[in-house]
Amino acid sequence: MDIKKLLSKLTLEEKIYQLMQIRAYTYLYDSSLNIITGPDTKYGIDEKYVYEVGTVLNCGVAENMIKIQEKYLANSKNKIPLIFMQDVIHGYRTLYPINLGLASSFDTDLAEKCAAMAAKEASVDGIHLTFAPMVDLARDARWGRVMESSGEDTYLNCKMAEATVKGYQGDFGKYNVASCVKHFAAYGAAEGGRDYNTVDMSERTLREYYLPSYKAAIDAGASSLMTAFNVVDGIPAAGNKWLVKDLLRDEWGFNGVVISDYAAAYEMINHGFCEDEKEVAYNAINATLDIEMVSNCYVLKLKELVEEGKVKESQIDECVLRILELKDKLGLFDNPHRSTSPEEAAKFHVCPEHRALARYAATQSAVLLKNEGVLPLSKDIGSIAVIGPLANTGEIFGNWFCNGRADETISVLDGIKNAYTGVINYAEGCSVSRESTDESGISEAVEAAKKSDAVILCLGEHQFDNGECKSKAFLDLPEIQYKLYREILKANPNTAVVLFTGRPLTIRELKDTSPAILNMWEPGTEGGNACADLIFGDVNPSGKLTMSFPYTVGQCPLYYNYYTTGRPKVSDDIKNAYVTSYIDSPNGPLYPFGYGLSYTEFEYSDFNLSGDVMERGGKLTASVKVKNVGKYKGKETVQMYIRDLFGSTVRPIKELRGYEKIELMPGEERVVSFDITEDTLAFYGSDLVKKAESGKFHVFIGKNSACTHFAEFVLK
Ligand code: GLC
Repeated sequence: MDIKKLLSKLTLEEKIYQLMQIRAYTYLYDSSLNIITGPDTKYGIDEKYVYEVGTVLNCGVAENMIKIQEKYLANSKNKIPLIFMQDVIHGYRTLYPINLGLASSFDTDLAEKCAAMAAKEASVDGIHLTFAPMVDLARDARWGRVMESSGEDTYLNCKMAEATVKGYQGDFGKYNVASCVKHFAAYGAAEGGRDYNTVDMSERTLREYYLPSYKAAIDAGASSLMTAFNVVDGIPAAGNKWLVKDLLRDEWGFNGVVISDYAAAYEMINHGFCEDEKEVAYNAINATLDIEMVSNCYVLKLKELVEEGKVKESQIDECVLRILELKDKLGLFDNPHRSTSPEEAAKFHVCPEHRALARYAATQSAVLLKNEGVLPLSKDIGSIAVIGPLANTGEIFGNWFCNGRADETISVLDGIKNAYTGVINYAEGCSVSRESTDESGISEAVEAAKKSDAVILCLGEHQFDNGECKSKAFLDLPEIQYKLYREILKANPNTAVVLFTGRPLTIRELKDTSPAILNMWEPGTEGGNACADLIFGDVNPSGKLTMSFPYTVGQCPLYYNYYTTGRPKVSDDIKNAYVTSYIDSPNGPLYPFGYGLSYTEFEYSDFNLSGDVMERGGKLTASVKVKNVGKYKGKETVQMYIRDLFGSTVRPIKELRGYEKIELMPGEERVVSFDITEDTLAFYGSDLVKKAESGKFHVFIGKNSACTHFAEFVLK
């Protein structure tokens, strides 16, 4: 398609309509727009441009997508096909674990395969673009959206971002979808962990920790990017010229489509940054925002701004060109229905192959937090009690569930029934509701526990208690669940807690007293089968936390790569000293970043560094021998951390700079090596230039971020 020629045929008004996004279902209702646009009527959407807007969101199933595109093109003057956009975050119909869980697998190949599966299911249902990956760095467990992040580490966040973009977009083939990296930028740093709250940080922190993952997604070829709800340095992202025009476009060279978050352009008025829609349109177009999601300041005010000479038509042309180029890249001018196929949707959605991948992903994402011999259970035991508010429910598939369904999700009870032929005694025990105080179900659960050889107790937060706008000021389990837990443990000490959660929780009592804790996160459509695979040892848990579990919510935000400060607390035994500390809590986490157990044991030895001086342009190699000294085959994610002891700015006590996930048979050993170059050591110093500074460094290799054994070297 000759995009420039097509652009030249459009009137200014028609160009502006291309910058507007409304909801896909607008086209499915009758012509009375009051019903059609529902809550959007407040944005003044009317019929005249419903058939000229450029894109739609919140799409549905194949049949509807075909209907909508046909109806749109039949009524549109310019007949430029719509782009259908949707949040396909951790699966489309077959759901894999929430992203915080998938990241715990430390397996980027798996992340890529999962994204590709999601793209295949979405593309045949008519989706052209997914609003994913979400790559916001997440250091605060109070924020509900940590569930869709890859956690608190920038290095891992970048790896997962790259893999996920590649999985969605592939070679932009039939079963791929365009990727939209979000939320630009630093949305995860909302103060207090309260969603949509203020973000405020130095440019250096922004560049060092928060921006790299968006850049990694863009370098991996992300076709588009979504700006965040929050301000960056006091200016809302949707209209932030420094952030979007100067940095994203001019410094990074990104020429993809930039879309606002839901009504976030209009919300610049609520922020007190713009007085009215006209000022919104002015700031957003000058920031080079291409698509205004749902609100319609562009449609209402851009023409006026051009007529007044305050905005050049060429600025609008650039935005329209980017949108038309994306439509062309998606092949929509050749085939407006692209890959949409009800037949293929029926064939691919929750097909056995996709279920198998979702199941495998859930087994690789689970993190064994504690195990004093209860797990794995033998399938030969006589009876198992399956208890708890999350034992017999399909609502463990995760909150960004897209077209996933509870009635297609395997519960823990069903998973155990599928894997075990002995006696199963089920009892709910209590409600999963945070507010419940109803203890009436506990006695029946105690009876089930008493008469069973082992207990699987499924506790946690409901999947809809995390996600967007689900911030929490308290991170512990509801008291009613602890009441159930205490009674069950008394009734049968051979109990394993299976935890479902979308965020780190302050589960101190479980850590202190439970014989075993297996964190399944929100495991997706095959959650129950994956759980059974793990509790019976058909799969050995290998997940490692990518967010620190706080000891108490008062520590949030909590992350492993902190600055030591001028008064470091070098040991939690120190009391009443003038060091950075709390009088009522340790500084350290309940469980650290990178932590996760196995049914087997891995022994680290022969830690070696190839030298203690690195010349400029040179490299050193750190290595360690890892041996499986237990009786199960298992996977271990060996982690390499670096500490830069002195810099032109203070430096974290350690930072992840390499990892390798290996699988060892019992008795097998392997040497794992990591190369260290100047790139490994580079950071944004006081001059905001990314480079490695000469001086002393420590390199650590270990099982998690609490590792202490290091070797020292100097960069010349
Ligand atoms: C939501 C989310 C964003 C999502 C968008 C469209 O508010 O912030 O992640 O892509 O709206 O659903």
